[in-house]
Amino acid sequence: MKRVLSGIQPSGQLTIGNYIGALRNFVKLQHSHSCYFMIVDLHAITVPQEPAALKEQTESVAALYLAAGIDPAKASIFLQSQVSAHAELGWLLTTLTYMGELERMTQFKDKSSGKESVGAGLFTYPSLMAADILLYKADLIPVGDDQKQHLELTRDLAVRFNNRFGELFAMPEPYMPEIAGRVMSLDDASKKMSKSNPNAASFIAILDEPDVIRKKLSRAVTDSGREVKYDPQNKPEVSNLIGIYSHFAELSVAEIEAKYEGQGYGPFKKELAEHIVSVLEPIQQRYKEIRSSGAVHDVLKKGAEEAAIVANETLREVKKLMGF
Ligand code: ADP
Ligand code: NA
Repeated sequence: MKRVLSGIQPSGQLTIGNYIGALRNFVKLQHSHSCYFMIVDLHAITVPQEPAALKEQTESVAALYLAAGIDPAKASIFLQSQVSAHAELGWLLTTLTYMGELERMTQFKDKSSGKESVGAGLFTYPSLMAADILLYKADLIPVGDDQKQHLELTRDLAVRFNNRFGELFAMPEPYMPEIAGRVMSLDDASKKMSKSNPNAASFIAILDEPDVIRKKLSRAVTDSGREVKYDPQNKPEVSNLIGIYSHFAELSVAEIEAKYEGQGYGPFKKELAEHIVSVLEPIQQRYKEIRSSGAVHDVLKKGAEEAAIVANETLREVKKLMGF
C-alpha cells in the first residue's frame, strides 16, 4: 500500500480552507492508503503560542480529525512532538538545506514581512517539514496549494540526500484539490484563508455555528456585478466562492454557473451557506461528543506508537548512511 503523510498546525480554529485542502482528502485517502496524520505542534511554535492555548488547540485538532471521519483503526493520528525522530531528522536535513532555498520560500516572506524580529524556526520550518514527510518515505502528500513550494524543497532534499549518502528516500507527490486548492479570505481574495488571521470574518471555521456561517457568507466581499461566473482573473471573490461551493455541494463549476444563471449573488451565497452548514453540522455534533468522551488521549498514544516504529527505523537508516 502506498503511504500518505500530512498534518495541520494547532495554531487556531481550523477553517474550511484546511478542510478542502487537507482534512477532506485525509478522510478519503485512508481507505486506499497507509496513512499517517499528524498534528504538527512543533510547526505551530514557529510563532509564539501560549502553552495552555497550544494544549487546547492540539486536542481540538485531534478531535476534529476524528469528527471529520478519520478512523484510527485505518490511519495513525499523532502529535509530531511525541515522535522525537521528527526533531532529530529535522536537524539533520537542516544541515543539507541551503540558506538561499529557505530565503525563496514565499510563506516565510509572508509570515515575516513587517515583523521586527522573527524566530529562526520560522525560517528553517521547511527542513522540518521535509523530515516529517521523508521519515515515512511517504508517496502522497495531501495538502493545499500553499504547500507546493515546501513540497518541492522536500523532493530536492530527498534527491540531495540520496545522491550524497545513498538511495533511501521515495519521491513524495502532492495530492491537491483540482479547484480551490487555495481557498482565499472572504474579505480579501488576494489573501489565503488562514486560521491564524486575527480577523474572524476572513474565514469560516469548521466549528462556526450555523448562524455565524450564514452571516459571514452574507457579508463576504463580491464584485459589483451579478453574474455567478468562474473567472479567477476578473472575478476573484465570486470564483473563490464557486470553488468552495463545488466542494461542499459536490457540483462542478459548470453546474453551479448554470444553476444561478440570471439570479445574482443573493441566492448563490444563501445556498452556499446551507451546503456548508449541512456538511459541517454533523462534524460539529460528533466533535462535541468526542471532546466530552476523552477518547482523544488513547488515539494519540496509539498513533504515536505506530508512527514511531516507521520513523525510528528511517532515522536509524539515515544516521547509518550519514556516518553516525
Ligand atoms: P493555516 O495556514 O490555516 O494555519 P496550516 O499551515 O496548518 O494552515 O495548513 C494545514 C493544511 O491545510 C495544509 O495542507 C495547507 O496546505 C492546508 N491549507 C491551509 N490553508 C488553506 C487554504 N486557504 N486553502 C487550501 N488549503 C489550505
Ligand atoms: Na500553511
